Amino acid sequence: MVDGKLVPVLDAQKLAQNLSGFNLIDGALVPALSGRTFPIVNPATGLEISTAAFSVVQDVDAAVEAAQRAQPDWAGTPARRRGALVMECARLLEAHVQELSRLVTLETGKALRTESRTEAAGIADMLLFYGGLGSELKGETIPHRPDMLTITLREPIGVVGAILPWNAPMYILAMKIAPALVAGNTVVVKSAEEAPLAVLRVCQILNQVLPKGVLNIVSGYGPECGAPLVAHAAVGKITFTGSVETGKIIYRTAADKLIPVTLELGGKSPMIVMPDADLDKAAAGAVAGMRFTRQGQSCSASSRMLVHSSVHDEFVAKVKALVDAMKIGDPMDEATDIGTIISRGQYDKVSSYIAAGRATADATAVECCTLPTDPGLGGGLFVRPVMFTGLTNDSRLAREEIFGPVVCVIKFSDYEEALSLANDTSYGLTASVWTRDLKTALDASQKLQAGFVQVNQNIVAQPGLSYGGVKNSGLGKEASLEAMLDHFTQKKTVIFNMQ
Ligand code: NAI
Ligand code: MG
Repeated sequence: MVDGKLVPVLDAQKLAQNLSGFNLIDGALVPALSGRTFPIVNPATGLEISTAAFSVVQDVDAAVEAAQRAQPDWAGTPARRRGALVMECARLLEAHVQELSRLVTLETGKALRTESRTEAAGIADMLLFYGGLGSELKGETIPHRPDMLTITLREPIGVVGAILPWNAPMYILAMKIAPALVAGNTVVVKSAEEAPLAVLRVCQILNQVLPKGVLNIVSGYGPECGAPLVAHAAVGKITFTGSVETGKIIYRTAADKLIPVTLELGGKSPMIVMPDADLDKAAAGAVAGMRFTRQGQSCSASSRMLVHSSVHDEFVAKVKALVDAMKIGDPMDEATDIGTIISRGQYDKVSSYIAAGRATADATAVECCTLPTDPGLGGGLFVRPVMFTGLTNDSRLAREEIFGPVVCVIKFSDYEEALSLANDTSYGLTASVWTRDLKTALDASQKLQAGFVQVNQNIVAQPGLSYGGVKNSGLGKEASLEAMLDHFTQKKTVIFNMQ
């Protein structure tokens, strides 16, 4: 601390130790009430780097009670003042980008240069975006009767529960807490068990500016810590990113309480490459869209590449050449492009899909890159990116979210077939179409069943662009003004009869 402000700690190992075993409740770092912790492992080495608080219902209760106590004053703070405080948080975070990117690299195995630094810089951007929207929390006037004034008010919901995944933990944290806070809610966050440290640090930094109890964070496992947060009587809204299976469990509990949810549940996103596409641009877009730099651990990964038969082989060769030029290695090394899978469980899951692909008759595994040989990384969860050609769209690999660097490349012979393959999935998060033809682009953008459709690019969620899926990919939107208004406020109709 200098002048009462936290100073960045660039030694990630030391910072991980400093944060060991803590929740952040009512403005203070506190251990779980039981005193229990669980280990946090660096997936690049297999070594324990720290521990996290093993929170259960009593810890969740304490966090929710703190949020409840803080909520009336926070809601009573003028909206633009709340926004200004959130922008002040963003400015504080800008000074911690290097620190946070190192810490998230240590706990997730994501490459520092290609992934973690972008994520750490992105959270300040998200907070700045929402911080400017305080005065947009406005209602309407309604011409109900000329002798009365009828209006709507946008009010905060109260206490929001935010449940995080591990793949982009800080960015997803920012996407959830910023609109909730600006709208006048207080928040209890539950971090993912694999990646609790960087998000705890972010919340600690933000607590230098926010009044105590406004933003609280607990760590723990789904059933012991996540479930009680969803079930808590005082939690009026849940925002969740993760698996379909867990999303449905949360939705059922929320249904019993009749509270709203935002669910972002991943995908099996199609990328249609038409014969007239700029193939170099499409290949670069495939590499970006598949998030190879994040080992494919992205909800919006373009994991089904639907390619016209006339350009299929050339496209695969171009993507392979680009991926082959990437370096798998120590995530903390500036030269590394691709780090590790998050955990042994995910590694085994991804490996089992690769084994299934190899065992499929007619499928060919196009493997890319080489694995690191550094003995210090012997315990690391590295996976070579692989593209499977020759699989059909009904194969398990093409239907299920793998969440690893595994792509299905499927041939089509005409546009109608491409469209029907693209929509033949239980998911609907993102989709892209690659063509120079405006008519095809317009048609596809209307007919693709996805919440986020791009023509000739594959960028990630960004402030201002409503992001969210259809079908099994979830409910609700994030990252936009609409997301804040529709999902973090409730509308009240008020009629003034002064007769
Ligand atoms: P998960 O959905 O089980 O976990 C996500 C979060 O939900 C974690 O914080 C977890 O502790 C919490 N959680 C788990 N059970 C809960 C419950 N009953 N009540 C409340 N919270 C609960 O996902 P997991 O196990 O990390 O990964 C499994 C698969 O989910 C991945 O292979 C991937 O396919 C998908 N996934 C999708 C993500 C996305 O961005 N949409 C992010 C992470 C995972
Ligand atoms: Mg799970």
